[in-house]
Amino acid sequence: MRTQAENFEQPNSFEFTPEVMKMAKAHISKYPEGRQASAVMALLDLAQRQHDGWLPRAAMDYVADFLGISRIEAYEVATFYTMYNLEPVGKNHVQVCTNLPCWLRGSDQIIEAATRNLGIEVGETTDDGMFTISAMECLGACVNAPMMQINDDYYEDLDEISTESILTELKLGQTPKTGSQIDRKSCEPIGGLTSLNSDAGSD
Ligand code: FES
Repeated sequence: MRTQAENFEQPNSFEFTPEVMKMAKAHISKYPEGRQASAVMALLDLAQRQHDGWLPRAAMDYVADFLGISRIEAYEVATFYTMYNLEPVGKNHVQVCTNLPCWLRGSDQIIEAATRNLGIEVGETTDDGMFTISAMECLGACVNAPMMQINDDYYEDLDEISTESILTELKLGQTPKTGSQIDRKSCEPIGGLTSLNSDAGSD
């Protein structure tokens, strides 16, 4: 295993591929003339996706120069939001929410299951570069706590068994079921609707 801070180099340069450049221009076109700086988050995200899921300094500089903003403004955004990875991460970035609602609902056990299954600790990446575990603040799905985000997907209503099952499926190259792992529909109450159902108002 290796930690996220080891074994990586900052590239000397970065530029959008032609395909990503088209997407960047589409984002910029959403904003009025002179307000192109508002696209900074979207462009940093594009740069990160192009660069194997992490954002080197050269990419932040490139985005800043591209938008005509100061480089420190791009750094301020990239260092504030945890969605930007400033160091390399595994192909599957396992982000376990450990904030209060998820903690009350068992996030310690989810972390234990993930570290046991992957053989790494929080903040580490597997030797094959396939998985990184991170502990996150609230990811906005508290109602289905505990939960984890892996790349762009949310896995909710977790327990140790479902957590290990999801990670094992990913190791095998399979596509685990996303969303609630207890077949709750969206964030409706466990056990089904309690209001606004066909029986409501019949008394
Ligand atoms: S506390 Fe975990 S998603 Fe909000």
